[in-house]
Amino acid sequence: MIPRSGLLILGLGAIAAASGWVLAAPDTPGGAAAGDLHGAAAPDAQMEALGKLLGADATAPGAPAHVDDAIWRALIRDDNAMTPERVALGRALYFERRLSADGTVSCATCHDATRHFTDKRNVSEGIRGQLGRRNAPTTMNAALLRVQFWDGRSKDLEEQAGQPILNPVEMGQPSREAAVATIKDDPGYQEMFRKAYGEPVTYAGIERAIASFERTLIFLDAPFDRFLRGDADAISPDARAGWALFNGKARCASCHTLNVTLPLGTDNRFHNIGVAAHAHDFEALAKQALAALSADASMEKLDALAVATDLSELGRFMVTRNYSDIGAFKTSQLRNVGVTGPYMHDGSMQTLWDVVDHYNKGGEDNRYLDGGIEALALSEQEIDQVVAFLFTLTDDRFAGDNAAAMTTQRDRAMTTRPFRDEALAQRKVLGFERRVEGAAPAPAPKQENTP
Ligand code: HEC
Ligand code: HEC
Repeated sequence: MIPRSGLLILGLGAIAAASGWVLAAPDTPGGAAAGDLHGAAAPDAQMEALGKLLGADATAPGAPAHVDDAIWRALIRDDNAMTPERVALGRALYFERRLSADGTVSCATCHDATRHFTDKRNVSEGIRGQLGRRNAPTTMNAALLRVQFWDGRSKDLEEQAGQPILNPVEMGQPSREAAVATIKDDPGYQEMFRKAYGEPVTYAGIERAIASFERTLIFLDAPFDRFLRGDADAISPDARAGWALFNGKARCASCHTLNVTLPLGTDNRFHNIGVAAHAHDFEALAKQALAALSADASMEKLDALAVATDLSELGRFMVTRNYSDIGAFKTSQLRNVGVTGPYMHDGSMQTLWDVVDHYNKGGEDNRYLDGGIEALALSEQEIDQVVAFLFTLTDDRFAGDNAAAMTTQRDRAMTTRPFRDEALAQRKVLGFERRVEGAAPAPAPKQENTP
C-alpha cells in the first residue's frame, strides 16, 4: 500500500539522473528490482512476507501476547497511541525509498522483512554503497527495548526513526525539511497523515508513524517460552543443559536477564565485553571524540560519528562521556538470535560458536573490560550446549530458518573457530598477558553475507 504518484516517480527519476545513478528497470526477471540495494528483497516481496508473519490482528489494541500490559503502556508515548491508521502509515514509510537522498534506500533495505528484519551483513551499507561501522540489529522486538541503538543514544523508537534518514552513510537526507519535501505533495500520503494524525506530512509524524509500525514487530513465541511455561520437552536435553550453564558456570544471565517478565534477554545496560578491543587505542579515540563533540554535540552529529567513523568503537562513552563507558555497548536482546547473525556491534562474529568462544576466553582484554567478563573454562560439550540453548530463542514463525541457520553455523564452526583460545579459556594464560596497548586501529570489518 505504498502511495504512488506519477509526478513523484518522475521526480525520483530526475534525482537519480542528476546524481548519476542508473536505476535498473523494475522487476527485471531474475535480477533485483530498482534500487533494492545490498541484497534486500523488493518491497512487494517484503510486504508479502510481512503479511504472512503478522497475520490479521497485528494492530489489535493492548499489549501483544507475552508482554506485560503495564510495561507495554510505559513504552508508548502519550502522544502516539497505536491505531490501525498510524500503523498503516508507518508501514508505508518503512518501505519508502524516496525518504533517502537518492531514492534507493529505505528502512527495509537494512531491516528486511524477508531477512529477519536485518541485512545479514557485518556492517550496513547505505546510499552510494557507503559502509557504516556498525551491524544492523533486527527491528524485531526493538519496541520492547528501553533505549535504542548499540550505545543507547536514542530514548525511544520515535527518536530513533528520525536518525537514519539524516545519517550521511545511511539515507543521507541533508535536512528534515528535505526529507519531508520528498513526500509531502503526494496525495496518498496527505490522506494517510490526515487520517493518522490529523495533520499534513511532518517529520515528527514520519517518526511517530514508523514507531507505531515497529510496535507490531513482536516475535516472542519460541520453544524456550513453552519450556518456561512448564513443557520440559519443548527444548532438547542439550538446550536444557545450556540453559543451566547460561544461569551458572557461563554467567550469561548476569547481563542477559531472561525470564517471563523480562523476555528479551537484556538488562538494558552497557558493558565493555572486549569485542575487537585489541585493535583500538581507546584513549586516543576518546580524545578525538571529546574534541569533535565539544564543537557540535547535536544528535545528528553524534549519530554520524557513531555510525560512520572510528569513534564508533567508543560505544556508550560517546553518549555519556564517562571514561567507565569506553567500549561499552548495550547488552543485546537474545530473541531470535539464531537467525539474526552476524553478531556484535561490529558484526565481527559469524556464528554463535564464535560468540561463546569469545566469552569462554574472557573477551578481548582491555583496561575498560567489564568485571563480569572472565575466562569460563567451558568444555567443547558445554559450548555446544550453550549454543543449542541460544537456538531455542527463535520465534516459531522462523523455525525452518532457525534449523537451517544452526546447520550452516555448525558446518562453519567445524572448519573455522577464529575466536577459540583454549589457553585463555582454561586460564593457562591470563588475559592481560595478551593485551596489546596502543595498537593501530584495524580496518572496518570485511563485508560478507552469511551463507
Ligand atoms: C543503511 C542501513 C540502515 C538503514 C537504511 C536503517 N537502519 Fe536501522 N540500523 C542500522 C544500523 C547499522 C543500526 C545500529 C546503529 C547503532 O547502533 O549505532 C541500526 C539501528 C536501528 C534500531 C535500533 C535497534 C536496537 O536494537 O537498538 C532501530 C529500531 C532501527 N535501526 C530502525 C530503523 C528505521 C525505522 C529505519 C528507517 C527510518 C532504519 N532503521 C534505517 C542500519 C540501518
Ligand atoms: C558483562 C555482561 C555480559 C555477559 C556476562 C554476557 N554478555 Fe552477551 N552481550 C553483552 C553485550 C554488552 C553485548 C553487545 C556487545 C558488543 O556488541 O560489543 C552482548 C552480545 C551478545 C550476543 C550478540 C547478539 C547480537 O545480536 O549480535 C550474544 C549472542 C550474546 N551476547 C550471548 C551471550 C552468552 C551466551 C553469554 C554467556 C556465555 C553472554 N552473552 C554473556 C553483555 C554480556
